[in-house]
Amino acid sequence: MDLHGFLKALARRWLTVAVCLVLAVGAALAVTNLSTPVYAASTQLFVATRSGEDTVQLSQGQTFSQARVQSYAAIVSTRQVTGPVVRELRLRTTPEELASQITAEAPLNTVLINITVQDPDPKRAAEIANAVAACFSAVVERLETPKPMGPGRKPGTPPEPVSPVSLGVTQHAIAPSDPVSPRPLINLAAGVLAGLLLGAGFVALRETLDTTFKTSQALGELTGLPGLGAIPYDKGAPAQPLITAAVHSKRAEAFRKLRTNLQFAQIDDRPRIIMVTSSLPGEGKTNTSVNLALSLAEAGVSTCLVDADLRRPCVAKTFGLVQDAGLTTVLIGQARVEEVMQQTSNRLAVLASGAMPPNPTELLASARMSEVLDELTSTYEVVIVDTAPLLPVADTIGLAPLAQGTLLVVRASKTNHDQVRTAVEALDRVGGRVLGTVFNMTVPPKGDRYGMYGAYGELPAPRLSAQQKEAGVADLAAEK
Ligand SMILES: Nc1ncnc2c1ncn2[C@@H]1O[C@H](COP(=O)(O)OP(=O)(O)O)[C@@H](O)[C@H]1O
Ligand SMILES: [Mg+2]
Repeated sequence: MDLHGFLKALARRWLTVAVCLVLAVGAALAVTNLSTPVYAASTQLFVATRSGEDTVQLSQGQTFSQARVQSYAAIVSTRQVTGPVVRELRLRTTPEELASQITAEAPLNTVLINITVQDPDPKRAAEIANAVAACFSAVVERLETPKPMGPGRKPGTPPEPVSPVSLGVTQHAIAPSDPVSPRPLINLAAGVLAGLLLGAGFVALRETLDTTFKTSQALGELTGLPGLGAIPYDKGAPAQPLITAAVHSKRAEAFRKLRTNLQFAQIDDRPRIIMVTSSLPGEGKTNTSVNLALSLAEAGVSTCLVDADLRRPCVAKTFGLVQDAGLTTVLIGQARVEEVMQQTSNRLAVLASGAMPPNPTELLASARMSEVLDELTSTYEVVIVDTAPLLPVADTIGLAPLAQGTLLVVRASKTNHDQVRTAVEALDRVGGRVLGTVFNMTVPPKGDRYGMYGAYGELPAPRLSAQQKEAGVADLAAEK
């Protein structure tokens, strides 16, 4: 999947991204609200040397302090400091726990030590910081004091040794007003980022696992078959399946294009018995057969539409015709073709399925079926055969060699690679000649106002009365 494809997928699956975003932002807000605020109070100490009478000594003292402040900083959170602070402030923590609340750092080339204490109570954070500073200064001064040489001090001996360094507070800790954590804005930003990444990840995963066809180009690449038509999704199609109900609609236009492509596709050896099939039920075989037949008739081609889906026949119902007499009646020799043929307009005749037989697979592959089709081609220029789906039943595979060409209907975003591949292989195996694919129920990209000329010349579908619907296309054809 390239970047363009991925962005398109993101736009198509925007809801997934939105849900991930809402969940992640919700989690970030929950974390912000549920976590206990922590405050940080800081104090700063200055390390001075006592031996400072002239500039040379001062400079030596400064170097001495700088060399040692790093070591002093490491002493801040030792037990020597935290122990007395816990006792002094009567804290309900152990010296080790207190140590984990303290950080100390000595900025390079300075004689400063910054001590920071974190605590859920801002006032206590400041108290601890100040107590730690005081205790720490005492500990350092004690450590730096040279040990007296002998036991006891006699009068006249040198004075008691004192520490060469002294620590002074440059900045006392005060109770902070704002907590250092949680940080609502940072948490929110992290939530938004995590939500977007999660959403994009989900979309990428779903796209990888989803092997249905989104574009006719992808369908062509997989099958290697010419795409003869792309029929747009039309939410009015189930209620008004016939394109004669809205002759200027995008769907009607698409069927005219399919008819033209079909007429140009096989110039030299133009097939006259065309079977319409697909991998699965509900992909639009009947819809395609019916409307292709109508648009051929519209172009003046004398056409016969045969319903060879003997398990779920729908053609007769679509036109409002009688279903019980038709193909099976002829196949079992109960009637002649012309006796059961129903005329819908002067160019389109329909052979309904007839009564449902117990053995549809055998009937459709029979020599009698071949004879019936031959007979039809002697009367009609083109015979369109609506069929059962290829994958669930074997009916259509048996019928395929009798047709002169097959149109494979593929439903957009529904039929997957494997299903289409299996169907094409099955047709190849029996020598069925696949003319090309019809990509059905395509959804044009948003903003594609000019696809198929968009709304150009499109007229609102006429409102049909109940009787008109009953009479179906006959009336509409008569209107012309
Ligand atoms: N282009 C389309 N736009 C919207 N709905 C469609 C379209 N083509 C078919 N349908 C609907 O899909 C359903 C299945 O179509 P149908 O032609 O009966 O499929 P099949 O014969 O392959 O089982 C029907 O309700 C039909 O109205
Ligand atoms: Mg059907």
